[in-house]
Amino acid sequence: MASRAGFRNLLRCSNARPALCKPPISSPRRTRSIGGVPEQKRKTAIVTGSARGIGKAIAIRLAEDGYDICVNDIPSNKGEAEALASEIKGLGRKSTVALGDVSKLDQVESIVKTSVEELGPLNTMVANAGIAQVKPLLQVTPEELQRIFEVNVHGAFNCYSTAAKQMISQGSGGKVIGAASIVSFRPFAMLGPYSATKFAVRGLTQVFAMEMARHKITVNAYAPGIVGTSMWDLIDEKLGEETGAKRGDTLKKYSADIALGRTSVPTDVSKAVSFLAGPDSDFVTGQTLLVDGGIVFN
Ligand SMILES: NC(=O)c1ccc[n+]([C@@H]2O[C@H](COP(=O)([O-])OP(=O)(O)OC[C@H]3O[C@@H](n4cnc5c(N)ncnc54)[C@H](O)[C@@H]3O)[C@@H](O)[C@H]2O)c1
Repeated sequence: MASRAGFRNLLRCSNARPALCKPPISSPRRTRSIGGVPEQKRKTAIVTGSARGIGKAIAIRLAEDGYDICVNDIPSNKGEAEALASEIKGLGRKSTVALGDVSKLDQVESIVKTSVEELGPLNTMVANAGIAQVKPLLQVTPEELQRIFEVNVHGAFNCYSTAAKQMISQGSGGKVIGAASIVSFRPFAMLGPYSATKFAVRGLTQVFAMEMARHKITVNAYAPGIVGTSMWDLIDEKLGEETGAKRGDTLKKYSADIALGRTSVPTDVSKAVSFLAGPDSDFVTGQTLLVDGGIVFN
């Protein structure tokens, strides 16, 4: 005999439109798969500045998560960008390279266009590209100040806004993610302009989150601490020149203050970006997530 709940379900079904009671019809699109990921679940991401360092780790992690990846970097890093795209294809995903300078709006528009044409609708933008400069404030030239703002702030703005416009035109939301830093919360002496640009990225992330929410686009940033990449090789070398410390000693000195007892590696950051790009962060927006092993406690 049918239970009370069973009868209720039967009644609901008999009153409903017939189509709602039918099991979903499976179409060839639903069952096709590439690299083990069903096609309707395939997503695409652009990762800027991904020829090396943190961006490369993010691109690989998102490919492992099932994303097809558009690799971006500046033209002089073409070889590394193409090698990364091949590595991603080896993981069974699609990948394309779109070289270009994120500080130029027309180039970012062309990167997004290439990604959509080659890989399909854009789901996630990771505005990772950035540059650092180590110098006392009073020695910073106007040209240097302008260039670091062009890459780190205009670059983030160009990537956030161009990706958001594309996502709005597609009508199904998306994830926009940017590279902030511990210096977005607590600046470092000798990294003045860099710290200011990363404060700006955190601010932009908050306002974009407010304005994009109605389009179901979440906007968040990740804030790495001390990650052993070319960027920290530069910081270590330049701070050493100022203080007289030997190469490697500045990195060691700052790393000694990390609560979890070691310098970060790029995959520490890519794991957090995987969360920000994935469905588990669907109700998180406007946040700058510290991934520093315990340096800044905010
Ligand atoms: N390394 C760290 O400790 C650390 C800490 C906090 C934040 N970050 C941020 O994380 C991001 C990645 O840093 P990383 O350590 O991997 O640096 P990295 O220097 O190793 O890599 C940065 C990549 O961005 C590319 N790039 C630079 N300018 C560009 C432009 N105008 N257009 C396109 N690509 C460009 C570079 O060619 C390079 O491949 C940066 O935004 C950085 O500020 C790094």
